[in-house]
Amino acid sequence: MPVADLTTPYRRRLRRTARLLLHPTRIRRRLRWRRRALDRNRLLSLLPKDGVCAEIGTWRGDFAAAILSASSPGQLYLVDSWEYRTEEKYEQACYGGHAQAGQEGMDAMYQRVIDRFRSEIDSGRILVQRARSVDAAASFSDESLDWVYIDADHSYEGVKRDLDAYYRVVKSGGFLAGDDYGREDRWFGLGVTQAVDEFAGRCAELTIIGTQFLLKKP
Ligand SMILES: C[S@@+](CC[C@H](N)C(=O)[O-])C[C@H]1O[C@@H](n2cnc3c(N)ncnc32)[C@H](O)[C@@H]1O
Repeated sequence: MPVADLTTPYRRRLRRTARLLLHPTRIRRRLRWRRRALDRNRLLSLLPKDGVCAEIGTWRGDFAAAILSASSPGQLYLVDSWEYRTEEKYEQACYGGHAQAGQEGMDAMYQRVIDRFRSEIDSGRILVQRARSVDAAASFSDESLDWVYIDADHSYEGVKRDLDAYYRVVKSGGFLAGDDYGREDRWFGLGVTQAVDEFAGRCAELTIIGTQFLLKKP
């Protein structure tokens, strides 16, 4: 007779908790991710529904999936170069020196994103652009998007470039939003915050929700 082992899942959970307690940095990281998920949900609740929007920097597609379910966009563009960067500047980035699997890993990630959103891509609801963000921006007409979420190159220059490039593409009254505002990181420093603060002068409003920024175009 098969015997159900009801203790294994509990043991596993206990082991996971013990591992966490032994590693305070893991606890901190997990709490940070949880807080960020809540901030992002709040941000999405403030952005227009059923619109045409873009996520700049998609990685594995986790936030793209959240956008799909919370914002029910008519069209969602996913822009990412899925490129392993070898320059010294990107040594600490998750797609640079850090990334163990190099370009092969980025190619595999791109393929997984395509597989993950296969039905939305086939229906035309998701459009994937594998390109550098600024090159992809050139393919959009003026004021064609309701909002853009920027989460690609987090360096000061990278965020400034993306804000500049996508401002033209967002409708008047639309939004430029993004991740990691106020966060000081060992690879991008305070680059996101500096670029957003500078750019805010061109916008009607700047709203900060934890680590998320929301700029309203006049
Ligand atoms: C932090 S991850 C994005 C995470 C994703 N937004 C999420 O929350 O699930 C950054 C992504 O930006 C992409 N990226 C970095 N610089 C880029 C650039 N100049 N153009 C296009 N994509 C870029 C990287 O390939 C990487 O996948």
